[in-house]
Order: sequence, then C-alpha cells, then structure tokens
Amino acid sequence: MNAHGNIVLIGFMGTGKSETGRILASCLDMEFLDTDAEIEARSGKAIPELFTELGESGFRAIEKEVVNGLKDVQCHVISTGGGAVTDPENMMVFGELGTTVHLTATPETILKRTNGDAGARPMLAGTDGLERVNELLASRSNQYAKADFSVDTTERDPFDVATQVIDRIDQESTRIRVDLGAQSYDILIGVSITSRLGMLLREFDVTPRVLIVTNPGVGELYGTAVERSLGAAGFESSTIIIPDGESHKTLEWASHIYDAMLDHRMDRKSAVIALGGGVIGDL
Ligand code: S3P
Repeated sequence: MNAHGNIVLIGFMGTGKSETGRILASCLDMEFLDTDAEIEARSGKAIPELFTELGESGFRAIEKEVVNGLKDVQCHVISTGGGAVTDPENMMVFGELGTTVHLTATPETILKRTNGDAGARPMLAGTDGLERVNELLASRSNQYAKADFSVDTTERDPFDVATQVIDRIDQESTRIRVDLGAQSYDILIGVSITSRLGMLLREFDVTPRVLIVTNPGVGELYGTAVERSLGAAGFESSTIIIPDGESHKTLEWASHIYDAMLDHRMDRKSAVIALGGGVIGDL
C-alpha cells in the first residue's frame, strides 16, 4: 500500500465491490467508502433518478466530482462504481489513493448477479443482457487492466474474495511451516494479522464459537481488532482476561478458562485464541 494506505476496488457491476469492500474494511479495521453512496448523498437522489434527469454524462460529472473529492482520504477501503474507470483522470486518482484491485467475474455470472436489478442499474436497462455486458466489458477492459492486480469473484463468496485480496496485498507476510508430523503448524508473520484473524481462522475446520484468552495489557491493544475481525468472519467470540504476570500461571486460572469454554458452549472443534505473551500461551 502507498502513503494513503487505501484499497480501491474497481470492476464491473455485479462483481461484489461493495460487499467485498465492507468485509475488507471490517476485517482490516479500516473505514469503508462507496462512491455510488457518496454520489447519492451529495445529490440527494438515487442513481437511476440521476440517469433519468441528467443522462449518463450528467451522472459521470457528479461521479468525477466525488472521485476528485477523495484525494485526501486515507486508510479506507473504497468501492467504486463500475463505470468510474471510463474517465482516465478518475483512474489516476484511484492509483494515487492506494492499491487498486480489479474484481472480475464471467459475463454470465455478472448477468446472473445483476438480473432483475436493471432498475437499479441504468447502464443495463432495456437491453439484451449478455450482449450489453460483453459490450461494456470490452469497452472498459483497458482501464480495468491498469489495476495493480485482479481477483476473480466467479463462484466465490465475498469472504473468499476478501481473503484473496488481503493475501495479495499483504506481501510482507511470511508463512513458516513447523513440520512436526501430525502436530505440524504454521507461523504467520506479517502486518495486520490481528485484523485478518477471522478470515485466517476460516481456513480451519472449527465451530463458530471462539474463546479469546488475553491479559489486560495485550487485550487492550489488540482485543477489539481481534473481536471485530472474528465477528466479521462469522465467529461468535467470548473473551476471558487473565491478570498480567507469571504469578497467574496457575491451575486455578486454567480452570477459569475451562469454565469460560463451558459457558460459551464450546466443543473439541472450537478454537481458543491465545492473545498475549508467554503466560497466556502456556495457560
Ligand atoms: C455503473 C455502475 C454502477 C453505478 C451506475 C453506473 C456503470 O455501480 O455507478 O449505475 O456504468 O457500470 P456498481 O458497479 O456498483 O453497480
């Protein structure tokens, strides 16, 4: 990510930019911004209404104003309207804002996802669906191709798409395999791991109930990010706080953890997150 630290999602209608963007923002503890929603807020009108009253060119003019107004935005996930890329100056702004990610899908998938929604999507209204999608895709493909990278969303749910996006962005993260046969595990070193935890946990066969074991110092710094990330990924977490210090590495505190697991109705397939240092890990 560059100095602005934004993630800008571009791509055709129906590629899941808004839904994926919301998940990304929540998992990475970033703010979310949707240019279509900004256009509607600024004009006080729904997008189809703007197309009817001002035509496509009038809509594009407002869209351009909104995009220009983003120049100082930092640390946001920004979802953009599918046609915003048709203005080369918009593309330049997107590039300056941060990492641009192109979400793709097959024309058939796009049609399936947007069908019945033509009223809300004036660019697809009153035309032969597949032909129109193909035509627009072809006319925009050069612009979409300028993204830093693309992620195919066909037959993927928005969580999987968001995971892919994060994996591609977080190139600094390193996975080290500790090879111990049946006890093997990975060590993951990188940025925003706490914010990515929920999505990372989805790779495992665990139940939705998770217990976070932490201590006041570490819990205060990272607890909220972990809870939010788990919640966004569909987990129901409960937290137990063990007081700081070696003197609390006791069987009594271990039994408090068991009680908390029982209260939270966990079973042998539930995950426990040790969010802390040596004492928490040992317990
Ligand atoms: C458009 C896409 C829409 C919206 C407007 C025009 C386009 O946004 O900006 O209807 O030209 O492709 P989504 O891509 O979020 O549907």
